Amino acid sequence: MLLNKLTQQLGHPRHSFTGWLVKTVLENINETLEGNAAKLVQIQPDNTVLEVGFGPGLGLQKAIHYLTESKGILYGLDYSEYIHNVASKRLQEQIASGKTKLLLGSVEKIPLPDSSVDRVFHCNCYYYWPDLKTCSAELHRVMKPDGLMVATMSMIWMKKVVSLGLLQGIKWQPEYYMDALQATGFRDVRMEEMEDKGFKFNAIFATASK
Ligand SMILES: C[S@@+](CC[C@H](N)C(=O)[O-])C[C@H]1O[C@@H](n2cnc3c(N)ncnc32)[C@H](O)[C@@H]1O
Repeated sequence: MLLNKLTQQLGHPRHSFTGWLVKTVLENINETLEGNAAKLVQIQPDNTVLEVGFGPGLGLQKAIHYLTESKGILYGLDYSEYIHNVASKRLQEQIASGKTKLLLGSVEKIPLPDSSVDRVFHCNCYYYWPDLKTCSAELHRVMKPDGLMVATMSMIWMKKVVSLGLLQGIKWQPEYYMDALQATGFRDVRMEEMEDKGFKFNAIFATASK
C-alpha cells in the first residue's frame, strides 16, 4: 500500500505527506544526477534550454549558471502542480528576472514551438512517461536540428529501488527509452557509465536529426 503510494508520488508528486516525503528525498539524493545532466548537455551561453520533469528544481538551478548571455533562456516543464509550487519558490529570483520559465504540462504535449530548443535534459524521469515514443517524438519536435538531449539515471539505484518493491510494472530500463529515441528521429543514441565523486550513474545522449 505505502509502496504503491510512493511509486505514484515519484511519478506525480502531489500535495500530501507522501508527496512531501518524495520531494524531500529527491532534494537530498538527486543533486549529483541533476547537476551532471545540466553539465553534460553542453549548454551554450545563448541557448534555449528545456528540462523535463524538473521535480524540486535542482537541475534548473544548476543549468541557469551556463546561460550567461541575455538571449539565453531556461524552460522547465512538469505536470505536477505541487512540484511547480516547490520549484517556483526555489527559483523565485530567476523567474522574476525572466530568465527561467516554468511550464505546467506533460511531455506528451510540450507548449513550445517546433525547432525552438537547443538543449534538453532530464533526470529520473522517462520511466513515468505514458508512451515513450509519443514523448520522444515530442521532444524531437521542439528541438532544433542537431540539438543535444541528455538524460541521467542510476542503474544501481534503480535496481535497489525495484528490489524494494517500488516501480512495479514500470519500464525503467534504458533500452526502452533508447529504442524510442532511435525510432523518433534522434541519432547517435548512446549510454555511458559515469562517476562523480564516487557516485556511479548513467547518461543517455541523443542528437536531434538535421
Ligand atoms: C522521480 S521525479 C524526478 C524529479 C527530478 N528530475 C529529480 O531527479 O529529482 C519525476 C518528475 O517527473 C515529472 N513527470 C513525470 N511524468 C511527466 C510527464 N509526462 N510530463 C511532465 N512531467 C512529468 C513528475 O511530476 C516528477 O516531478
